[in-house]
Amino acid sequence: MNRKGFIFDLDGVIVDTAKYHYLAWKKLSESIGIYFDEFQNEQLKGVSRINSLEKILGWGNKELSRDKFMELLARKNNDYLDYISNMTRSEILPDVVRIISFLKDTDQSIALGSSSRNARIILKKLKLIKDFDAVVDGNNVSESKPNPEVFLLAAEELNVTPQDCVVFEDSIAGVKAANEAGMMSIGIGDEKVLKEADYVFTDFTKISNQFMTELITK
Ligand code: BG6
Ligand code: MG
Repeated sequence: MNRKGFIFDLDGVIVDTAKYHYLAWKKLSESIGIYFDEFQNEQLKGVSRINSLEKILGWGNKELSRDKFMELLARKNNDYLDYISNMTRSEILPDVVRIISFLKDTDQSIALGSSSRNARIILKKLKLIKDFDAVVDGNNVSESKPNPEVFLLAAEELNVTPQDCVVFEDSIAGVKAANEAGMMSIGIGDEKVLKEADYVFTDFTKISNQFMTELITK
């Protein structure tokens, strides 16, 4: 069979950490008097920690000193790390393990392409890290999604051309990044939100092994 590159986003695709990012950003925004709800949160999915705080401050028309900015970033991350401290494999989203096993059985290359600087910690907690041939995360890139850097780097590490890569993403920014990289984008979530993706599934339970075979042989 062909060998393709399958690149997974982490937060909201492999594990339901998107809800913890949401809670931590909401707490932080409200502590500085800036309104925050699910709509704002959608714009932050896939976006780096620094760029997320810049966006929140922009929405609230607020400027902060560099020290205060750094303090808020640290506070958000501490809250987030508290939320995920007891995370186990039970939080892996449904059928992610089936899809990864299918890809391994069919000898495909698998990478992580995440904006998070906490990605490795999380993959270790989930005992998934050994399943990835390459892990590219927020520590390895200078530009955040929607910039395609993270996916292009993952393809390079897998030694697969971008045209032979398929990306699984739950964020608007991540779908844009995959498209910009010239890869196939598969949205995981709401098709009304992830309009720009090549395909959208509500979750991995909706993705059949037959569909995966078609992606590989296409
Ligand atoms: C992305 C999340 O995966 O990582 C964003 O969707 C998050 O919500 C970003 O801001 C950066 O994550 P972290 O863990 O480095 O703060
Ligand atoms: Mg995500």
